[in-house]
Amino acid sequence: MKLLIVFYSMFGHVHRMAEEVAEGAREVVGVEVILRRVPETLPPEVLEKMGATESQKKFAHIPVCTPRELAEADAVIIGTPTRFGNMCGQMRQFFDATGGIWKAGALVGKVGSVFTSSGTQHGGQESTILSVHTTLLHHGMLIAGLPYSFDGQTRTDEITGCSPYGASTIAGNDGSRQPTENERAGARYQGKYVAEIAVKLTK
Ligand SMILES: Cc1cc2nc3c(=O)[nH]c(=O)nc-3n(C[C@H](O)[C@H](O)[C@H](O)COP(=O)(O)O)c2cc1C
Repeated sequence: MKLLIVFYSMFGHVHRMAEEVAEGAREVVGVEVILRRVPETLPPEVLEKMGATESQKKFAHIPVCTPRELAEADAVIIGTPTRFGNMCGQMRQFFDATGGIWKAGALVGKVGSVFTSSGTQHGGQESTILSVHTTLLHHGMLIAGLPYSFDGQTRTDEITGCSPYGASTIAGNDGSRQPTENERAGARYQGKYVAEIAVKLTK
């Protein structure tokens, strides 16, 4: 069973969460976890101005995803930062190149799931995840979120990401906040949860 995690990250938060999702998925026997990033669409000079050059070096070794790899996967988990309450343009661009696999129905009946990161606590995490759900539904995918059986979901003793829609982290306005233990646990839970569902679906 192949579980594909596809992410875009500018400053590293979504990448960190993607690694946690992968760790959770690997706990499930018989699951091959494949981690991929989507192509960058911004020119290097813009990334430099945004202060993203150094952060992106840390995950530059992760191969860029192709639509074919999407078609070959049994389950897909998407990670995207929030951009104005929506998925980022890089992820949108990637999906807009998947018309061929949409036509072939290559993702129909497979499980799909989404996690995110935003700068601020109420900056649109849920709408971002839902924006990706719309695309996954057009591909015929079955949506999995992050159920309340993940205990960390109900915490109010600290500021935390994660919702029934999917795992999330809050990067802070200047990007200095890193995913907390609770947020990382949510990401691992989501990875494992999706992998378990995919194993059942591919039996
Ligand atoms: C163009 C742009 C739009 C953004 N829009 C939002 C937003 O609507 N809400 C929010 O909380 N953060 C917003 N952010 C902050 C990003 O979500 C944040 O930098 C990101 O989650 C960090 O993840 P990363 O390190 O993986 O790139 C925006 C950032 C950029 C560059």
